[in-house]
Amino acid sequence: MTGAVLPQIPAARAFLGTVLHTPVRGALESLRDALIVCGRDGVIDAVHPHGAPPAAALAAQHAQAGTLTVLDAGQYLLPGLIDLHVHAPQWPQLGTALDEPLELWLQKYTFPLEARYADLDFAAAVYESLVDALLANGTTTALYYGTVHLPATQRLADICLRRSQRALIGRVAMDDPTQCPAYYRDATAASGEADTRAFIDYVRGMPGNAGALIEPVITPRFIPACSDELLRRLGALARESGCHVQTHCSESDWEHRFVQDRCGLTDTAALERYGLLSRRTVLAHGNFIDGADIGRIVSAGAGIAHCPLSNVYFSDAVFPLRHMLEHGVHVGLGTDIAGGASPSILDNARHALIASRRLESGVDPALNRERRGRAASRIDALTAFWLATAGGGIVLDKALGIFAPGYAFDAIVVDTRASGSNLRIDAQDAPETILQKIIYGAARPNIRNVWVAGRLVYAQSALMAAPEH
Ligand code: GUN
Ligand code: FE
Repeated sequence: MTGAVLPQIPAARAFLGTVLHTPVRGALESLRDALIVCGRDGVIDAVHPHGAPPAAALAAQHAQAGTLTVLDAGQYLLPGLIDLHVHAPQWPQLGTALDEPLELWLQKYTFPLEARYADLDFAAAVYESLVDALLANGTTTALYYGTVHLPATQRLADICLRRSQRALIGRVAMDDPTQCPAYYRDATAASGEADTRAFIDYVRGMPGNAGALIEPVITPRFIPACSDELLRRLGALARESGCHVQTHCSESDWEHRFVQDRCGLTDTAALERYGLLSRRTVLAHGNFIDGADIGRIVSAGAGIAHCPLSNVYFSDAVFPLRHMLEHGVHVGLGTDIAGGASPSILDNARHALIASRRLESGVDPALNRERRGRAASRIDALTAFWLATAGGGIVLDKALGIFAPGYAFDAIVVDTRASGSNLRIDAQDAPETILQKIIYGAARPNIRNVWVAGRLVYAQSALMAAPEH
């Protein structure tokens, strides 16, 4: 039986097994038969390497208390995956409507779909199914866009809290009548701000959310969809509330130029002027960010949600990932559901690898090899995994994505021997080879268990799940 489990009240727990994670970009740390102890608060107390003095006694104590989870042979404990860019309402559109450029896609398919979330029953059913699917794919933290509708976006927050998925959620703000249809937009800048405030208050006051597992995010959809007044109001609200900010930035040629023409500035410079660029800002895509804008982003400490699969359809170019990393920009990964047709961050890690190789080699055989690509653009598999985990944590400015004291115990068990697995691990494979095989080949059947803040939130076989206390 495959299915969801409802999270239980957490206890201190311990996990014994082989750990694979990337605390440093591009470098694997592998801990064979390590013991990770997680407190009641869902935060890691200690990571004991195999044979460290307290490990055996602690493991015995937890075994006795029924709070020890022991991984089987062929199973690996990895940090939970972090998705920095999900449009929750676009879930029904996954794998469709990929035949138009961004500006037409929004008007023809996406705004009509998002308008349907005025219907709360429709919203609840879609959002339940999405959170289910993301957890089953190993996504322990998601940065969501909702719709303009306050009740539907509140429902998304309720569902994430009940299922214990760590989530940062924004009610989408968009009021510009020249870009947003009358049937789907904020009536005025003032009402857009008021509904954003109401959503922040709702999430911060949700019973059961004292630990801020769910956080509100200020979400101007993108500059073209928002009036100057709305952007100014949201910038002031970002300062006042301390909330994260998310928006799309320099995604496509059209978007990049639109902002230049309207504001006389690049997207990044305009966001800075509106007060929307800070350490808590996550810019989706950013394909055309360059020059002085890189410096602006680095000084602000803002981050980029790289969405490599979506970029194939909407961006007109490959994101210069390595260039950004080498300039000190914080980068993680996003699915951009449904611009990207996969709910899996592992898939997107592969796509990030592939895109970086395409940028390096170039793609047009009519050009000479020397002129075809951009040298030194490739990333390696460990960097792709880092983006999916630790990199995402850094973008969010949260202690997520690695196993270390003080970090949240958000984790997945990858079972390389699961039925339906495409992985083939050989006895002599080194840990780095195993992780590389997981990055390239693991899929939903391999995601055995998922924990968020020490709570078991998904078990592939509910009957076989470790008991929770
Ligand atoms: N820019 C503004 N809205 C959207 C959206 O929903 N998806 C993508 N990919 N880009 C956008
Ligand atoms: Fe998007």
